[in-house]
Amino acid sequence: MSAKKLSGKVAADNYKSLIKKEVNNRLKKGFRKPHLAAILVGDNPASSAYVKGKVRDCNEVGFESTLIHLNESISEIELLDQINQLNNNDKIHGFIVQLPLPIGIDEKKVVLSINPLKDVDGFHPENMGRMALGLDTYLPATPYGIKLLLEFYDIETTGKNIVVIGRSHIVGLPMSILFGQNSKGGNATVTLTHSKTRDLEQVVKKGDIVISAIGKASYVNADFIKKGAVVVDVGINKVNGKLKGDVDFESINEIASAITPVPGGVGLMTRVGLLMNTLKAANEKN
Ligand code: GUN
Repeated sequence: MSAKKLSGKVAADNYKSLIKKEVNNRLKKGFRKPHLAAILVGDNPASSAYVKGKVRDCNEVGFESTLIHLNESISEIELLDQINQLNNNDKIHGFIVQLPLPIGIDEKKVVLSINPLKDVDGFHPENMGRMALGLDTYLPATPYGIKLLLEFYDIETTGKNIVVIGRSHIVGLPMSILFGQNSKGGNATVTLTHSKTRDLEQVVKKGDIVISAIGKASYVNADFIKKGAVVVDVGINKVNGKLKGDVDFESINEIASAITPVPGGVGLMTRVGLLMNTLKAANEKN
């Protein structure tokens, strides 16, 4: 039997219709539309596509959006000045700076310069710290989207062995923290694996739920997955002009109980996480 497909499109459409209703409620109360701004530096095709998708989502749910497209050659100081303007612009509820940034611009410095109250990516150390402590904050969009996807498909995490592959600051690390917390969508026993993990296949094979975020096309094959596991593929890798996940979908399809497709899986849910955070930012300000 083949695995159930966990469609990011179906789940995202459901959450987007809920967000749209909340926007209409705000408008009825005389509040403004939530307003997201996105800074895109340069013309990295993947980043351009992601940001365009985020802007499209904003239109779809009734948010306002502002895309600030800066030249690849912009200096760090000029970028920090743009961020400062957004920090002080009362019309903007939240904003993101699309990563990666061109060589020569210090990403850490850029993230630190974002007002944590407008950091709807949840990347600022203050928000990461709040997330780790289970305090009210903006959750990083991809881990947030994955939590919402599992919730939509009624996939229980309590007591499960969850193996996360990859320890990036924007996916693997926060994901591992969130799944271990004593809260809804948490309470799992979490293993965070990475490039130095010994016997990776055997470790991943213990996972009732496997989250792969390593950025290697079709790396996770049937040898990694135990019968009946749920497999969430965060990878977006370009191979011969086609998008490929980290997971070898064909070989795992017969083993897993459920699996996310690429495209049409986690990517769409990341965008829902961002919309949720922007709505939260707006609701806190009115
Ligand atoms: N690059 C890859 N994923 C993300 C994301 O979620 N937010 C931002 N700002 N950049 C990214």
